[in-house]
Order: sequence, then structure tokens, then C-alpha cells
Amino acid sequence: VGVHMSILPRVALSRRGLPGDPVAALTPHADVVEWAHERPPNPAELRDLAADCDAVLCWLGDRIDADLFAAAPRLRVAALASAGYDGVDLAAVRAAGVVVSHVPGILQETTADLAFALILMARRRLGAAVDAMRAGGWTDNRMDGFLGLDVHGATLGIVGFGQIGQAVARRARGFGMRVHHHGGRSDGEGLSQRVTLDELLRTSDVVSLHLPLTDATRGLIGAAELALMKPTATLVNTARGGIVDEAALADALRAGRLHSAGLDVMTDEPRRDPADPLFGVPNLVVLPHVGSATEATRAAMVDLAVRNVLEVLAGRPALTPVPG
Ligand code: DGY
Repeated sequence: VGVHMSILPRVALSRRGLPGDPVAALTPHADVVEWAHERPPNPAELRDLAADCDAVLCWLGDRIDADLFAAAPRLRVAALASAGYDGVDLAAVRAAGVVVSHVPGILQETTADLAFALILMARRRLGAAVDAMRAGGWTDNRMDGFLGLDVHGATLGIVGFGQIGQAVARRARGFGMRVHHHGGRSDGEGLSQRVTLDELLRTSDVVSLHLPLTDATRGLIGAAELALMKPTATLVNTARGGIVDEAALADALRAGRLHSAGLDVMTDEPRRDPADPLFGVPNLVVLPHVGSATEATRAAMVDLAVRNVLEVLAGRPALTPVPG
């Protein structure tokens, strides 16, 4: 008896140990094959994993492209457990007629919390303070020790005013910040005033990025944009690394042309070299892409991805297909 005798559809999970127990949720409806290793699959391994599957559940870093579709002729749905879908080749999706879904509308509050954590860490120099304490550097309650810049009363510029940007704006109100934004469809609904990107960069004390990575946003914040910012300003990126020119950001911080920055996302992820030049930049706090990483939010993200798989396998439209 071969493994393909089952009449159930086959679903591949591109990661093992996903939160929310998707294996249990899928098992009544499908034969589930789980990626066997702690490390993520490379593109060739993802193709092998999905080769004879009807559905694949994917995560950050997986390439959903023509090569995957060619390798997996039975594939009907690729369900991302992430909100962002910058790893998806949308033209290839249209050509292949495979459904690709993502998980919008779940992680905005959790990610906005993390953006605020980075704003506070960067402006109050908390990363440096924690490092110093660990190294025995708390020698004196110096009155001029670890002086940062205030968050309350500061002007926050939100670039990208979708669900996450608006959730950040609501928190900023509680911190007594002035808020303005660039982009998005909403006019701010009394939370925030819409301004041009130039004005936002020139006048904000904190600039927080909440845009998807697209051809239009790649490298949006480069040397010229950083030069518009105040030398006392903070840049926070919880969106996608490719939106910011990392080398230009490091230069601006080293030269003291920018006060501080907080990055939850980087151009190449993961970054595991302790000697990574980015990790040594003064006044730069880096986190390992944990914006949505709470137990409840990550479980809800996987749950929606599973429901997208089951809908498509049952012959119905995906609940949350990627736009376009
Ligand atoms: C996403 O979902 O796109 C985030 O980057 C990870 O939660």
C-alpha cells in the first residue's frame, strides 16, 4: 500500500512546530506532511515538499513563484500564515491559476505594541542601558547617565496608514504625541493629519514605517530621506527591511545625523552573524522580526491560514486571498 492511496488531499506545512496546532486542525480533512527540520526549507526543498501536494502552508522567506507551481502541478492553494506577501510573484500566481491567501486583519494591534516598544527602546536608549547593566556598567546613579529623548510630547510621523499605522496612531494619543501620517486610504479620522512624505520626514521626532514591501516602497527611506530627518529623530521599522537603505541608516547613526533607530526587520533575514556590522551601530536597536510574535496572534494567524486551505480544498473561494 503506497502513501498515495488515501483519497484525502495532501497538505504540506513549510515549517514544523507552528503555533495553534495546524496538524490537528487539518488531519480530519487531509494528509499532512510537515517540514522535518528546525531550519526553514530552501526553495528547492520547498518545491520537493510541495511536489505532490494539493495545498501548502507557507511562512516568511518562502518563495511562492512559477518554479514552485511548476514543481507542484496538483497545487490548488498556497496559504501564507503572514500578512505580508512580498515573497509572492503575483504574475506567476495569475498565470498558474493557483489561489494564494494571506492573513490580514489579525496582527495589527500586536505589531503596533512592538512598534511602541522600539520607539521607547530607541529614544530612551534602553538597549544600551540593558547591555551596560549586563556588563557590570551600572557604577553610579549618574544624573547624566543614559539620557534619552522624550516620547511624550514628541511628533510621530507614520508612513503607511493602514491597519497597523492606525493602531500605532491610537497608542500615540495615549502617550500625548502629536501624530501625522503619509499614505493609506484613511484621512486619519481625527487621529492624525495627512502630510507629504517630505514634510513628515522634516518635522517628525519619530518616524515609524508601516508599509508593505513593493516595487514602489523598496528603498523608500534612503540617504536623501534620512538627511531630511532631524538629527534628534528616531526611525522605527516594523514593516519590511527592504524599505530602508540599511547602509545609509548606519552611516547616519554613526555620523550623529540621526539620534536613534529601531529595526524589527532587516533586508536579509535571519541575520545570525554576531559580527554583523548592523549589530554594532550606535543607538540602533535590532529585534529578530517579532512584531506579531505573541502566542495568541501567531496561533490566530496559523488558524486563518488553515481555514484558507480548507475552504479552497472544499471548492470554495479563499477567505482572504492576496489582492490582485
Ligand atoms: C507578517 O505577517 O507579514 C509579519 O511580517 C510577520 O508576522
